[in-house]
Amino acid sequence: VRYATITTRLDGDGSRAWHVHDLAAERIERGEDVIALTIGDPDFVTPPAIVEAMFASVRAGRTHYSPARGHDALLDAIALRVSRHAGRPIAREEVVFLPGAQAALYATCLVLLEPGDEVIVPEPAYATYEGVFMTAGATIVHVPLRPERGFHLDVADVERGITERTRVVVINTPQNPTGAAFDEPTLRALVALCERHDLWLVSDEVYAELVFGKRHVSALSIHEGRERVIAISSLSKSHAMTGFRHGWAVGPAEFADNLDRLLQSMLFGSPPFIQDAGLAALQAADDVTSSMCAAYEARARVVVDGLAGVPGVRVRMPEGGMFVLADVRESGLDDLEWALGLLEQEAVAVLPTGTFGPSGRGHVRIGLAASEDRLAEACRRIARYAGTISS
Ligand SMILES: Cc1ncc(COP(=O)(O)O)c(C=O)c1O
Repeated sequence: VRYATITTRLDGDGSRAWHVHDLAAERIERGEDVIALTIGDPDFVTPPAIVEAMFASVRAGRTHYSPARGHDALLDAIALRVSRHAGRPIAREEVVFLPGAQAALYATCLVLLEPGDEVIVPEPAYATYEGVFMTAGATIVHVPLRPERGFHLDVADVERGITERTRVVVINTPQNPTGAAFDEPTLRALVALCERHDLWLVSDEVYAELVFGKRHVSALSIHEGRERVIAISSLSKSHAMTGFRHGWAVGPAEFADNLDRLLQSMLFGSPPFIQDAGLAALQAADDVTSSMCAAYEARARVVVDGLAGVPGVRVRMPEGGMFVLADVRESGLDDLEWALGLLEQEAVAVLPTGTFGPSGRGHVRIGLAASEDRLAEACRRIARYAGTISS
């Protein structure tokens, strides 16, 4: 028996990033006190009103097929939510509901990319991207997000990566793992570049609601790009709903129609009660999300303050998201060695980001899905560990 070549492309380098996480999970399973800061799954409970809305939906018999792209009421609610960031009305016809941003990204790639096409991805990038684009048969062209620029995108770097095979530029803002949020001039220049070279711009905005102290700038807000910009997001992070698998893709109506046709084959609809739970989340007041955002900001501050002055560890305050990226290059260890040593000596698990792309080498990602006390304790352990390396 033989498998299709797609199976050889499913795991990118990024899958190796989880090694430290897996080791930590084994130790926690054995009952050890490991502070695990490896993943981006919120530690908050899903708000009870959302859970209740799901049960009510099931009890009301909403347990049958639904339209492939989602129910109209939900599409309208997503459109309304996204229009706040886009600064223009979004029509229901521009929205497709999918089970999470991950699925939205995957399905989007299938309708935009041919085997052999190139996709430009600023790195360090979210670890699953590689598998997603490679599965579509595309070749990834990395462009650097430079630490010395605070990991902000230099559009000239993107331009240098363009060839006649380039079809798509994929960005993520606020960015995982760097915490950089791209500003309006950068997005404007990027849209103009995509316009000149007839490229799609796919913007992963799953952390859109978790921006600290300023407004999120969506790629959809650059109105000149409305024919070529696709924004992807979900309720995973904003409402602690990772297990619900509730996300969306928003783009030109023709793109949405093509996605709809793909979903007809791929999913044949998504659970109506999950859609209804998401509808309740989108219709509720924003205080749930704003309090989570404030909590992540406060936690990031605890980490940044807790690691200030620690030898061989440099941190900066993220602009949004659920992570602090720490630069450990001065330690002389590579990021995997550094993270393994920290786990071994101090029972703190963080994610080495060398496999997120070359610019992530020598950095580790510290997740903020833990209480301030736990994070403060993690910082004390990190400081002790860093002291042993530098001495
Ligand atoms: C940048 C980025 N995109 C997409 C996802 C996947 O999100 P979802 O749970 O909506 O599939 C994540 C999850 O961590 C992420 O960090």
